[in-house]
Amino acid sequence: MANPLLTVSNLSVEYPTRHGWLRAVNDVSLELAPGMALGVVGESGSGKSTLGQALMGLTGASQARVGGRITFDGQDITGLTNKAWRRIRGDRIAMVFQDPTSTLNPVLRIGDQIAEVFQWHRPDMPQTEVRRRTLGMLERVGIREAERRLRSYPHELSGGMRQRVVIACALALEPALLIADEPTTALDVTVQAQILDLMRDLIIERGTAMILISHDLDVIGDTCDAVAVMYAGRVVEFGATDDVLAAPQHPYTKGLLASRPRFGHNQAVAPIAGTVPDLRSIGTACAFQPRCAQAVDLCGREGPPLQGFVATDSAKVPHRVACHVVHQEPRS
Ligand SMILES: Nc1ncnc2c1ncn2[C@@H]1O[C@H](COP(=O)(O)OP(=O)(O)OP(=O)(O)O)[C@@H](O)[C@H]1O
Ligand SMILES: [Mg+2]
Repeated sequence: MANPLLTVSNLSVEYPTRHGWLRAVNDVSLELAPGMALGVVGESGSGKSTLGQALMGLTGASQARVGGRITFDGQDITGLTNKAWRRIRGDRIAMVFQDPTSTLNPVLRIGDQIAEVFQWHRPDMPQTEVRRRTLGMLERVGIREAERRLRSYPHELSGGMRQRVVIACALALEPALLIADEPTTALDVTVQAQILDLMRDLIIERGTAMILISHDLDVIGDTCDAVAVMYAGRVVEFGATDDVLAAPQHPYTKGLLASRPRFGHNQAVAPIAGTVPDLRSIGTACAFQPRCAQAVDLCGREGPPLQGFVATDSAKVPHRVACHVVHQEPRS
């Protein structure tokens, strides 16, 4: 990819636990072009949030051991100090989390919370300009009577409105990359759809790249250009969203698709049998092998690399899969 915005190379994140190191992210490599929306999907515990946190320099608090390299906008950000991170975070890379109540300060008026973003990162900006931009941002995220709402406290707003405020804070400085970790899971379905539409409109309008973490493949299908499917800390399938949803290759991705409840379909939902492995004792074999109906001997011995399985033209997002069985199948 020419001039990617973000390049992640062989990233691993390990947490110290009482029973040794737990490898939550395991040798993940991916690239993101400017303006591209990448969905990250996987079961609970697959390492999605840990990946998002590593990309924002937030794993330090949990004493995690981070390996590999992250390059953002041409700069190696792997070993940045906390001070350097505070300058980038909220400015060039911004984030939206699942629960707006944990992001917003309950004792601060929402106008002041958005203004704080400008004051922290643009201390020289005149007050009148801060106010103008704060109002503009509130209006843009669909908050009516923005002037009056500036003086509201978070508890005076509905959950959907609070998440709109969080999005306003995140996008206030026009970051190049937005990381959204389950941004709509706490909201009801109608509001969820409105917020996703809003996020998609805003990132397209501003050319912001996005990493959208979700356990919901439909949400990713509606919002993202590409998708990375994670299992036990690894990316097991990667490709253009349309390609992966139309022709999933990895048995795990197929299982995820089959286990989706589909509105208006009478087909039985087929959950994936078995459970996620213990990440403290992940060996070198394919981590999905114990749950995989198609596994062959090799799967229990060696982990499959993530590699392309069909030739795609270079303009397209390559479709890659980490599965011995897929790579062994003869193709025409
Ligand atoms: N601070 C921590 N210390 C120790 N282990 C952790 C820590 N944070 C996460 N883990 C473990 O790392 C693994 C990956 O967790 P992570 O939160 O990244 O998964 P996830 O895919 O975001 O899951 P979910 O869908 O439930 O949000 C899990 O086994 C989790 O228990
Ligand atoms: Mg998570």
